[in-house]
Amino acid sequence: MSDPSQATWTATQEAIAKAESGHWKNINYVEERVPPYTLPELMRFQDGTPVKTPEQWTRRRQEILELFQDQLYGFSPEPPKDMHFETVDIDASAMDGNATRKLIDIHLGKSPGAPVIHLVIFIPNKRTKPAPAFLLICNRDKNNIDPTRAVKSDFWPAEQLVNRDYAAAAFFNGDVAPDKYDGFTTGIHAYLQKPEERKPNSWGTIAAWAWGASRVMDYFETDPDIDDKKCAVTGHSRGGKTALWCGALDQRWALTISNCSGCSGAALARRHFGESLSVIQNAFKHWFCQNYRAYIDKEEDLPFDQHWLVALVAPRAVYISSADEDLWADPRGEWLALLNAAPAWKLLGRNGLDEGTAMPPLNKPLKGDGMAYHIRTGEHNYKVFDWMAHADFADAEFNRNQDA
Ligand code: GCU
Repeated sequence: MSDPSQATWTATQEAIAKAESGHWKNINYVEERVPPYTLPELMRFQDGTPVKTPEQWTRRRQEILELFQDQLYGFSPEPPKDMHFETVDIDASAMDGNATRKLIDIHLGKSPGAPVIHLVIFIPNKRTKPAPAFLLICNRDKNNIDPTRAVKSDFWPAEQLVNRDYAAAAFFNGDVAPDKYDGFTTGIHAYLQKPEERKPNSWGTIAAWAWGASRVMDYFETDPDIDDKKCAVTGHSRGGKTALWCGALDQRWALTISNCSGCSGAALARRHFGESLSVIQNAFKHWFCQNYRAYIDKEEDLPFDQHWLVALVAPRAVYISSADEDLWADPRGEWLALLNAAPAWKLLGRNGLDEGTAMPPLNKPLKGDGMAYHIRTGEHNYKVFDWMAHADFADAEFNRNQDA
């Protein structure tokens, strides 16, 4: 497939040189070396029949979902019947009186050893209605989501979200499952299933973290201070892959945001640009189900590409963001996955993005109907610029100006 966009962003020579001097060798960071490729058709059932109506899309969506469950992330279990929420603390004068801080423990079961998600939420005090919320799946040090606010990190600008009348919520992904390969002998995997009973399509760690975010949505549905119809799930890098899978699966999220998610997140695999399926699965094999290993060095054999994953979010809102120096994550591949998912929005009555739309230039968020993208100056990270652009899009999507 040729790139339909007239590129307005291109990687700088400095960024390419820096990427090439990195740890991994034989990785392509040069656009001209992307091989010709054909993306699997989104709007055709696996048997070749075209998908032409919203009703057919409902069935197609299920088909795509099952492929990603079976071949990439693994199947996740139902929520445990005995999970429950415990309000650990409520502080109505947090953030100098601007917010109410709630600390909620989500017990993922009653048996000994049940993992607990320690959720922190800051809810704006200045509001007359339930607050729309952003949930960060935090894949970095817990200090980044410090409930005391002694540490304030750009990775989670909670004060700025609260100032914009959003509730800021976050949890540490390690509360659900550790970020290491241990044979799935710990965390939620071991709690719900004996490691020896695992199948080639049993859930990996990204699926477990995404499942954890859905348990937070279960909680949001019970909290009258949160407008659960206007909630965004977001994450960066491995957290961005997780947020995308969560928003794809769980239709309760009104907005799905994926920042610098790269390989096995938003980036198209067939471009062979940046991180490969070989590198990611050798370094992080716990992230995926075992079946995914069949595609190592065989990206062309994948039954899907990542634009199908993005399309699972339709017609709800999606925002993909990239960083200029983050060639490992293939910014253009992330953009193209978004653009090639647009037919799903069109079929479901939203404009999405028009075919052939050009990748926007640096620092100029592009907002379509239900779909948005930006590429920011700088490194692989989640920055205030990203958050504020995401909040601008949420404002528009949630019609905040109309119902403020
Ligand atoms: C590694 C990995 C990426 C991942 C990133 C992160 O670089 O190769 O796939 O996105 O870590 O989570 O920061």
